[in-house]
Amino acid sequence: MTELELIRPDDWHVHLRDGELLKAVVDHTARQFARAIVMPNLKPPVTTVAAARAYRERILAAVDPALGFTPLMTAYLTDDSDADELERGFRDGVFTAAKLYPAHATTNSAAGVTDIRRLDRVLDRMQSLGMPLLVHGEVVDHSVDVFDREATFIDRVLAPTLERFPGLRVVFEHITTRQAVDFVTNARETVGATITPHHLEFNRNAMFEGGIRPHFYCLPVAKREVHRLALRKAATSGNPKFFLGTDSAPHRVVDKEAACGCAGIWNAPVALESYAKTFEEEGALDKLEAFASLHGPRFYRLPVNGTRVRLSRTSTHVPERYTLAPGDIVPFHAGKQLAWRYAGVVR
Ligand code: DOR
Ligand code: ZN
Repeated sequence: MTELELIRPDDWHVHLRDGELLKAVVDHTARQFARAIVMPNLKPPVTTVAAARAYRERILAAVDPALGFTPLMTAYLTDDSDADELERGFRDGVFTAAKLYPAHATTNSAAGVTDIRRLDRVLDRMQSLGMPLLVHGEVVDHSVDVFDREATFIDRVLAPTLERFPGLRVVFEHITTRQAVDFVTNARETVGATITPHHLEFNRNAMFEGGIRPHFYCLPVAKREVHRLALRKAATSGNPKFFLGTDSAPHRVVDKEAACGCAGIWNAPVALESYAKTFEEEGALDKLEAFASLHGPRFYRLPVNGTRVRLSRTSTHVPERYTLAPGDIVPFHAGKQLAWRYAGVVR
């Protein structure tokens, strides 16, 4: 196969940042994806309808309008989140979903939720509205090993919460473990999961290959090979509960290559190329369109995109780094050759 045509995909989990960084990165997402669920972990976080409207305007001002990109905004949940504010944002079409960051779990999560029980009123309202809850699924208990935090979150937080709110629509974001795959597979159809290109491509060894490799560090952190294989099986299975979410999370080189380096992988420049690599290796290129373009809209109850895109089987060299106004950024697959190249919207 030398060409692949797909319904234009969406990215159901992305960090577009703000200010100069937003301007530098947004087109990399917008050229491949028609819509994206935009994470709200700015400083300060996007907690109100007004803040989300203003952020959406900044994104639309930064993106090349010719790319035809629609940002879908999310609310950052805190201990003090107000159910009425969320409902207003959802009904007004400003908030597509709300994001749960356990406090201190990851980048800019200090204002996150300290105990999910504090969200009972909010979750009850979201359940009635059918408003999706997007979950960063890691416990922050320091006695729990960093590689076990996702699996422990399922047992301590996610499973009990879904028992209390069985109708809640939940996206378990950027899953990294066999346990998460099993949990989502066996849950009600109102529970889905996103899978990133990087968690499909490498296991935790990548962070320590010949030395410490900060550009392979993200959260949740990559796990053992057995987990990566479970993710690959889930993504390529055709099961509509699993869909594309890149978790593209750019940080400048100076912020990654530091004594305390930031978590996050900037995969936006090669997102579809990377997914195509995985699906081809799994002999499942025929399943890529459903994962990238159909399962997400179905979960979010949104229309499927009306345009199509093309990938060509052309060897592509990924730059070692991008020189951008705020500073250099190293992309996923830096310096590597990829077999597929995104060739744009079919005219
Ligand atoms: O690696 C990550 N980076 N994981 C997250 O949860 C947040 C993200 C970021 O914002 O940098
Ligand atoms: Zn994320």
